[in-house]
Amino acid sequence: MLKLGVNIDHVATVREARYRGVGHGEPDPVAAARLCEAAGCHGITAHLREDRRHIQDRDVWKLREVVRTRLNLEMANAPEIIEIALRLKPEIVCLVPERRLEVTTEGGLDVVAAEKALTETRKRMNDAGVEVSLFIAPDTNQIAAAARTGSQFIELHTGKFAEEFQPAEGGNGRARTELQRLVAGAQQAHSLGLKVNAGHGLNYINLATLYQVPHLVELNIGHSIVSRAVYVGMETAVQEMLAAMQGYRG
Ligand code: PXP
Repeated sequence: MLKLGVNIDHVATVREARYRGVGHGEPDPVAAARLCEAAGCHGITAHLREDRRHIQDRDVWKLREVVRTRLNLEMANAPEIIEIALRLKPEIVCLVPERRLEVTTEGGLDVVAAEKALTETRKRMNDAGVEVSLFIAPDTNQIAAAARTGSQFIELHTGKFAEEFQPAEGGNGRARTELQRLVAGAQQAHSLGLKVNAGHGLNYINLATLYQVPHLVELNIGHSIVSRAVYVGMETAVQEMLAAMQGYRG
């Protein structure tokens, strides 16, 4: 069964818009995480950015206390955050690139260029009992390098697919090339023994087309669920996404 990790960063984004630096305020990403779990999601994902633009340190510690499914900490391969992760011990970390000016994580990691440093972090995390995922584009060389780091998972970056997806065209228009890259990437990763997650830009509409990609274990979805929750509430938004995910055949 395809699993759903809900990314709750955007809940914190709304809170920080009003309560930056205050140390409390609404909406609370931890309360949102509880609702997501009550609705049946399989994991909670939060990105502790170096600039702390949305999720704060206190959020991740509180999440560690209350999350009953799986805590996935998205993070840069940066010394300060690595130390926090090693103490926090989420079930899994997803290493992502971070650039200060981006609105959200825009591109995948360059694993080829950073193979040595990523391998080192992978070892430290695994030694602490934390699994490791690398957020990468569906690129042959990046996937091969990800396997060499010894990581357990990759998360395929679906941002380009989502960007090019036109509902009227389904998978048969501009998104087709990117979809084929994702299919080939998932096959390559699977053949190298990597488990395959996917995320970024996925929503209630483009999801069905993504199901052509084989071997998917988990999707990490944030923006579309949090947006939908504004209208229908967090639990219903998560339940609707879980229902849409029933269509995946692997
Ligand atoms: N996966 C990763 C690695 C991400 O950086 C993000 C965005 O924070 C997501 C998934 C979720 O993307 P979205 O909010 O577009 O669903």
